Amino acid sequence: MIQKKKNITIVNIVGARPNFIKICPIINQMNKIKRIKNILIHTGQHYDYEMSALFFNELGIKEPEIYLGIGAGSQAEQTAKIMIALEKELMKIKPDLVCVVGDVNSTMAAALVAAKLCIPLAHVEAGLRSRDLTMPEEINRIVTDRLSDLLLTTSDDALDNLLAEGVDRKKIYFTGNVMIDTLMLLKKKSAALKAYKKYSLKKNDYVLVTLHRPSNVESKKNLSAIINELVTISKRTPIIFPIHPRTEKRLKDFGLMKLLQKGNIILTPPIGYIENLSLLLYSKFVITDSGGIQEETTVLHIPCLTLRENTERPVTAEIGTNTVIGLDMKKLRKNVGLILGGKYKKGKIPKYWDGKASERITGIIKKLFLK
Ligand code: UD1
Repeated sequence: MIQKKKNITIVNIVGARPNFIKICPIINQMNKIKRIKNILIHTGQHYDYEMSALFFNELGIKEPEIYLGIGAGSQAEQTAKIMIALEKELMKIKPDLVCVVGDVNSTMAAALVAAKLCIPLAHVEAGLRSRDLTMPEEINRIVTDRLSDLLLTTSDDALDNLLAEGVDRKKIYFTGNVMIDTLMLLKKKSAALKAYKKYSLKKNDYVLVTLHRPSNVESKKNLSAIINELVTISKRTPIIFPIHPRTEKRLKDFGLMKLLQKGNIILTPPIGYIENLSLLLYSKFVITDSGGIQEETTVLHIPCLTLRENTERPVTAEIGTNTVIGLDMKKLRKNVGLILGGKYKKGKIPKYWDGKASERITGIIKKLFLK
């Protein structure tokens, strides 16, 4: 299906916060190659300033050539709306390759459209599996990988997963982690910001918390248990908690705001990439349910306690600084104790999480698509 040409057009598709971080270094590399024209389409899955435009500004991503303005909706609604709008655009552009990143609804919707139009599809961050089909992202990963012609992986476990699912070995390339490319690009600037000062926190003496997964925030029981524990932890080490819009809605619906205010917990609206990285860099440890933060903390050697039953990024727990806690609050307390007592593991950095993943990706695209 791949045809070598003198000049090619690639459409990169993004929709949600983690996509913006991953596409940034890929576009930077594509811009260096004159014979590749790259077009950026933003589905509008994330649309608030703090969730979208702020990231584009900070990461220096160009204005998308096309904005689909899809917005919020149920899983099916969001996916369907993206597919309908995107099909029209791709039929007009007729690109030589569609490139999608990560595992959000926009990723899978774009993969379905590209595959049905018989446009070659590249998936960056292919092969990750949590084996938990109650996560919408797991479904998005499986579908996207099944339809991809080029599967670009971040770790050995991803290769094993894809081979076990019968993916042709020739389609798989180990290119490393593009999220770390962006981290390396903006680490100096983020360090200089010293964002902890803005919140009157002390260097290396606070916890950064992020929470947004439906399994944690859509259940009153689970969310109450987590908030209760955070209040206790914050009495020893202060917490800073930038709140995702979904989480804020649920905290209010479940009447948990008052409980939260009992702790030494600073609440902020969602924050940008640089401020978040700055807070990460100087934190004592992190409590999260995010995928990307598990990787970022591993590279920065910062302890990460993950409030999920599983991870699609096992390398962060096996060799990095991550521990999968689930909703086991005893386990959370024990690990917080280890960290504060200086006895927590230090972790190592996985191969190819070195800031050069996007260079490898464009190198492969050049070789396969350009004459
Ligand atoms: C999405 C991704 C998840 C990723 C996360 C990062 C899927 C299935 N999930 O989850 O993998 O880790 O983004 O943030 O694609 N909302 C706003 N403003 C916005 C965006 C969303 O208020 O700018 C609200 C929506 O109205 C909705 C909720 O937040 O009620 C959830 O948004 P949605 O895009 O469905 O999924 P996320 O939870 O953000």
